[in-house]
Amino acid sequence: MGDQVNGVISQVEKLQVEDEGAGDPMDEQTVTPWSVQTSSAAGVDYNKLIRQFGSQPVEDALLDKFEKVTGKPMPHLLRRKIFFSHRDLDQILNVYASGKPFYLYTGRGPSSDAMHLGHLIPFIFTKQLQDLFDIPLVIQLTDDEKFLWKDLSLEKANELAYENAKDIIAVGFDMEKTFIFSDLDFMAQCPSFYRNILRVQKAVTYSQAKGVFGFIPDDHIGKVGFPAIQAVPSFCSTFPFIFGERKDIPCLIPCGIDQDPYFRITRDVAPKLGFCKPSLLHSTFIPSLQGAQTKMSASDPHSSIYLTDTNAQIKNKINKYAFSGGQQTVEEHRAKGGNCDVDISYQYLRFFVEDDAKLEQIRTDYSTGKMLTGELKKELITILQTLVTEHQRRRAAVTPEVVKQFMTPRKLNFKG
Ligand code: TYM
Repeated sequence: MGDQVNGVISQVEKLQVEDEGAGDPMDEQTVTPWSVQTSSAAGVDYNKLIRQFGSQPVEDALLDKFEKVTGKPMPHLLRRKIFFSHRDLDQILNVYASGKPFYLYTGRGPSSDAMHLGHLIPFIFTKQLQDLFDIPLVIQLTDDEKFLWKDLSLEKANELAYENAKDIIAVGFDMEKTFIFSDLDFMAQCPSFYRNILRVQKAVTYSQAKGVFGFIPDDHIGKVGFPAIQAVPSFCSTFPFIFGERKDIPCLIPCGIDQDPYFRITRDVAPKLGFCKPSLLHSTFIPSLQGAQTKMSASDPHSSIYLTDTNAQIKNKINKYAFSGGQQTVEEHRAKGGNCDVDISYQYLRFFVEDDAKLEQIRTDYSTGKMLTGELKKELITILQTLVTEHQRRRAAVTPEVVKQFMTPRKLNFKG
């Protein structure tokens, strides 16, 4: 299946999933840039999403090619197929193998000053890709999007962009190779940004945008025009100070699968405008603490571990809320073992324990009943306390001067 935009899968984003393939046919799931919800306790059915969105599964042969082309071990998030779906990853690998340049593009919608662990995933992965490929990266902070969708003033949304930039920088990106921008500010700094936005806006009809995003008559027109703004960092000509006059440098976008609707539109218009189609790598979601029916979401404090949480908060939230796949009593658990497929603590460990042997040991011990739920939770608490404390330490070292440097349009260290 190729890309599907105009009407072919109208309302793609609101998936009333039908009876096809594996999974319970009665399960319904909604995956949009604004909401992730499923009625199934097992969580989002990602295979169904691949079919509905028309992307490709990440298969073993492609992962073999990834390692062969890069000559290095792949990041655990790819090895475990947490990044489970893609569009044209093979083509980007061919570009790399032939010694030609490409760049990375990802982003964040700054709706609150506390990012959660889920938001961190694409950034951790993008950093690993940047280190592996040694290439430039652009990071879009859509403060304009959050002004349009949330009850936030322009000033507040812009302020949050700069706060979130500190968290993103704390992930460890190479300043020589990374440009971070707030849409609100970049619009005034760089004429090519708005010009490319206009090109995209003229190439996408209202009915296409409605088909993909499900706009309703009461939606204001700011929303309808916005997708072009998230589209254009996919085109190298948006950043002449990095890529000069070139129009032929493709990009790879690591992101959660909820962002795919934006890039279906982008990939549809790119050839019409003489630009390269972006490639994508989509990740699954870190589920909410309470269970896999929703993703970790900034709007529900009980569902999320925030990067601002204290050690005590992390401990309390996991002990109190993390849905357990363990049995009712210790005796029963010892006899039957726990269910890792629904156990939220185990699911989180898959994201954050890089060592395959260690993770497998935990899985075996828990599913055979050797390890109890309390012990599994303790493991997770220690890992997340360390991760969040380290993050906070690095973030505290990010001065306004460092943020300014990352966010100044400038030449990046780039082998053309
Ligand atoms: P935002 O701020 O909603 O999310 C930022 C990134 O985090 C991913 N994400 C998650 N990943 C795993 N588990 C979760 N629970 C979880 N929650 C969120 C999102 O998929 C996203 O990749 N409009 C965008 C900002 C944006 C962007 C981009 C994102 C602009 N350009 C290019 C990706 C790529 C937004 O509001 O993201």
